[in-house]
Amino acid sequence: MANDIVESFKQLHPKSYRMWQEDLNYLPGGVPAFWKFREPFPIYFSRAKGSRLWDVDGNEYIDTNCGNGPIILGHSHPVVLQAIEEAKERGLQYGASDLVGEWARIIIKHVPSVEQIRFVNTGSEAVNYAIRLAKGYSGKRKVCKVEGCYHGSSNDWAPISISEFAGTPENPLPAPHSLGVDHTMEYTVIIPWNDTENAVRIIKENAKDLACVIMEPISGTGLGFVEPEAEYMKAIREITTEKGIPLIFDEVMVGFRWGNLGCAQSYIGIKPDLSVLGKVIGGGAPAAALGGRKDIMEFVNPTHGKCAAERVYQSGTFSGNPFSAAVGLATMKYLDEHEDEVYSHINRVGDKIRKGLKDIVEELKIPVQVVGGFSTYEAHFIDKPYRNAREFARRDTKKLRLRDLELCNRGIFKLLGHFVFTNLAQTDEDVEKILDAYREAFKAVM
Ligand SMILES: Cc1ncc(COP(=O)(O)O)c(C=O)c1O
Repeated sequence: MANDIVESFKQLHPKSYRMWQEDLNYLPGGVPAFWKFREPFPIYFSRAKGSRLWDVDGNEYIDTNCGNGPIILGHSHPVVLQAIEEAKERGLQYGASDLVGEWARIIIKHVPSVEQIRFVNTGSEAVNYAIRLAKGYSGKRKVCKVEGCYHGSSNDWAPISISEFAGTPENPLPAPHSLGVDHTMEYTVIIPWNDTENAVRIIKENAKDLACVIMEPISGTGLGFVEPEAEYMKAIREITTEKGIPLIFDEVMVGFRWGNLGCAQSYIGIKPDLSVLGKVIGGGAPAAALGGRKDIMEFVNPTHGKCAAERVYQSGTFSGNPFSAAVGLATMKYLDEHEDEVYSHINRVGDKIRKGLKDIVEELKIPVQVVGGFSTYEAHFIDKPYRNAREFARRDTKKLRLRDLELCNRGIFKLLGHFVFTNLAQTDEDVEKILDAYREAFKAVM
C-alpha cells in the first residue's frame, strides 16, 4: 500500500518532479528550506486563492497548511489585496513604514503581556532578539528551554531538544537538532514539560545564571498540542517571578489562533514578561515581533543608557518595512474589527474537523489521538494520550507521513507530518471533503 501511495503521488506530479530534478542542481535538496522538502519530492505550487491551492501540474487542493500558519483569512482576501495595491503605489522599501504605530496598537490592545513592541521579519529572528534582550536586561547568560518546544531555525538557541533527547526525563540535558549549535548548548538548561517538581527544581538550581525561561505556551510541533497543566504553568510563573527571571512565551505558531486575539497566554491565563509573535501578524508577508514589559523593552530603545554597551542592539534593513506593515496591518485590522465573525468561523471549522476525525477513528478502530484546539488540529498515530515530548516521540511518524501523502493525492494539501490550520475561506463543503479524504487515507495506511 505504501508503494501505491508513493506511485500515485509520482503520477499526479510529473511537472513538479521535473522542476525538482532541475532545482537539485542549484539548491541543496532542491528546496529553499528544510520544511519545504517532502519525500518523494516537493510539490511546486503556482497559485492560491481562498481555501484553494493549485500546483504546476494543474492539481487543485484544499489548503490546510495555510502558508504554515499565517493565512488566517484565506488566500488573497480582498482587504489584503487592497493593502498590497496601496503599498505597491507607495513603493516597496523606504525604511520604516508610517503604519507601524497602528499595527502595534492593535496587537498591544489584545495581547495581555505586550506593552511595547518591536517588529522584525521572522519568528526565528524575534526569538533571537527576545533572548538577547533578556540577557541584556538580566546580565545573565544561560537560557532555559522546555524539552519539545520549537523556537524556529535561524537562531542558535532554537535547534536544541526538539525531537532529540539527552539525559533522563527528570533531568533532561540539551540535545542538538543541528550541527553547529554546540556553543549555545553549553549555555542551555532544559526543563521537562508538565513535570512541575523537576522543572521548578532545575530552574531553582540554575537561577543565578538564567537570563530567561522560554517556552511555547502550547506547542504543536514537538509536544503535539499537549496542554500545560494549570499547576505547572502557575509554578513556572511563580518561580520565575520570585527569582527575577524573565519568562518568554513564543507564540509564533499559536498566537492569534489559540485564545483568539488574546493569544494562548489569555487562554491559559498566564502573563509572560516577553512574548514572541509571528505568522498571523504578517498575514502572509514576512513579519514577526517581540513585545512585553515596558521596562524590559526599554533596553532596545536606541537612546537607552549612556552608550552601546548599556543597551541591547536590535535593528534590521526590513524591520517594520512598508510591505510587511501594509499586509500585516490590513490582516490585524480585519481581525480586530471582525473578531467574532473570523474566530467563530475558524474555530467552528476546527471543532467540526476534530469531532469528525474522532468519529472516523472510532469507526475504523485505529490507534490514533485527535488533538488540537481553536483553529488547529492533527490526528497522531499513537495508542494513548501523551503528557510530554518523550511520550509524544513514540508516535508512528512513518504512517503519519504516508497518510499525509495520501491526503495530497486526494486533493488536501497538508505539510507532511505537520499539524494543520483552518482559515476564514474554508467552507462546510471543504470540511466534508477533508474528512472524506482522511477516512480513505487512514484506511490506506492501516
Ligand atoms: C513556535 C515557533 N517559534 C518560532 C518559529 C520560527 O518562525 P519563522 O519560521 O518565521 O522563523 C516557528 C516557526 O514555525 C514556531 O513555530
